[in-house]
Amino acid sequence: MKELLKQLTQAFGTSGYESAVRDLILSEIKPLADEVRVDALGNLIARKKPTKADKSAKRIMLAAHMDEIGLIASHIDKNGFVRFTNVGGVFGRYTLGARVRFANGVKGVVGYDNLERFHEAPPMNKMYIDVGAASKEDCPVKVGDVAAFEQAFTDMGERLVAKSLDDRAGVAVLIETLRAIKSTPNDLYFVFTTQEEVGSRGAGVAAYGVEPELGIAVDVTPTGDTPASLKMEMELGKGPCIKFRDTGMLSDPRVIEWMIQTAEKSKIPYQREVLLAGSTDAREMQISRAGVISGAVSIPCRYVHSASEMVDVSDLQNTVKLLTAMLSKPVQVK
Ligand code: CO
Ligand code: ZN
Repeated sequence: MKELLKQLTQAFGTSGYESAVRDLILSEIKPLADEVRVDALGNLIARKKPTKADKSAKRIMLAAHMDEIGLIASHIDKNGFVRFTNVGGVFGRYTLGARVRFANGVKGVVGYDNLERFHEAPPMNKMYIDVGAASKEDCPVKVGDVAAFEQAFTDMGERLVAKSLDDRAGVAVLIETLRAIKSTPNDLYFVFTTQEEVGSRGAGVAAYGVEPELGIAVDVTPTGDTPASLKMEMELGKGPCIKFRDTGMLSDPRVIEWMIQTAEKSKIPYQREVLLAGSTDAREMQISRAGVISGAVSIPCRYVHSASEMVDVSDLQNTVKLLTAMLSKPVQVK
């Protein structure tokens, strides 16, 4: 899974520009799925049909988002510096000094107008991207061009560090789950969604199209295990986090029960997640059409939305195990 995750995180994929990530996923899942399609918003939808035709098969949608946060050029000044705004939840502190890469391959570094106040979180409109240009005419970036963090994948052994582990970690977990399921009584839709970071726009339309009876998002969740973190239970290396609450949704208690029972029966470590800030694709599934019974499994992740997010390999493996166990058996949720 490390090699897969390396490829996925190194691919460019800011919200709305997910095609390179989608192509990578497609090459992995094509031999594993019964049907594959791409919808108008770019969501990649892979279906695994019930192993034996069964009228009581539950239609279940799994969602992991392909997109990552990024920057978008808003103005090029006369000296060739690129002014920008955010695509999704970009933090000034994490952005200043970062290296970025535009979709067209141009690279740059983020500077700040107000360096004498560098201890303050710099606002987006006081930073610029220096792409090495000397003038506006010389600048290879146009207004509307998008950029992502540029950062190497670092294998620390049990811990992995990369940009866009939010949510390529979830993408890798879904691919490995699809690979691990040998047979299922359920009708499974593995959906790799677009534009989560700008408000789960892909998941909403995908859920409308798939019309699932159950929805599960697989995404990362920030932890409470670093000196500066919010007081939360989630820790790296303690297993998948079963979501109870985030700022966008309350998980359906029947889905929580299904997850906990499966984890306990299969002796998979798990954590209880109450996330104080942030949300996932599960929200859009839950409120799509006339409503969908929904929940989420989260992979604990440090430094979310920085260029150096960190996950634990055992958490990835245990998330695959939990999902595989949940989806390989008839579902009792009513
Ligand atoms: Co995110
Ligand atoms: Zn995410």
